[in-house]
Amino acid sequence: MSNLNILGISGSLRAKSVNLAALKACGEVMPAGMSLKIAALDDLPMYNFDLQEKGWPAAVQSLRDAMAAADGVIFACPEFNWTISAPLKNAIDWLSRFPAGQQPFQNKPIALISATGGPLGGARVQYDARRVMGGLGGMVLGKPEVFIGMAQNKFVDGKLTDEPTRKFMTDQMVAFQDWIVRMQRAFA
Ligand SMILES: Cc1cc2nc3c(=O)[nH]c(=O)nc-3n(C[C@H](O)[C@H](O)[C@H](O)COP(=O)(O)O)c2cc1C
Repeated sequence: MSNLNILGISGSLRAKSVNLAALKACGEVMPAGMSLKIAALDDLPMYNFDLQEKGWPAAVQSLRDAMAAADGVIFACPEFNWTISAPLKNAIDWLSRFPAGQQPFQNKPIALISATGGPLGGARVQYDARRVMGGLGGMVLGKPEVFIGMAQNKFVDGKLTDEPTRKFMTDQMVAFQDWIVRMQRAFA
């Protein structure tokens, strides 16, 4: 099997983000045949049609190109007020404006993870992310789901140390690899 090139996007801009740390952990546990690159959202301006009319901002174009080139995308979704964080929603809004054929969610295999300080681990944000990304044509993996609650107890110096969490994250990455292969066959 050829190597699957996976793009990771975290919806948190915080340097010590537990979602970014969780994304990095996906890169550690993913099976042979997958490799992870992480794209940052820091340079994206707030969506504004006036800006779009002047031409895609460089950071938007480069995020679109990275997503279009990826075999699959992992979104690490912080839960802000029961839903998608502003940086991630802003990125989705920019990417959604590309015309058909260039809009990078279309037919893209996607896995969702989330980490929160509270006990639910982002259950609510993931259902919103699933709805929004599905609406854009993204092929969001169903199960296994990865919700990391009480995240402050599961990472030490940015490293995921909680073994049960590493185990269910590993299971998700194995399922994601299979999902990507199946989606690539379906859309070949
Ligand atoms: C504006 C804001 C809203 C939040 N709302 C929620 C929420 O609805 N549910 C939840 O579980 N945690 C919520 N939190 C706590 C976050 O889960 C916690 O801050 C987490 O560390 C953020 O992810 P990050 O570390 O990747 O930035 C909120 C935090 C902020 C700053």
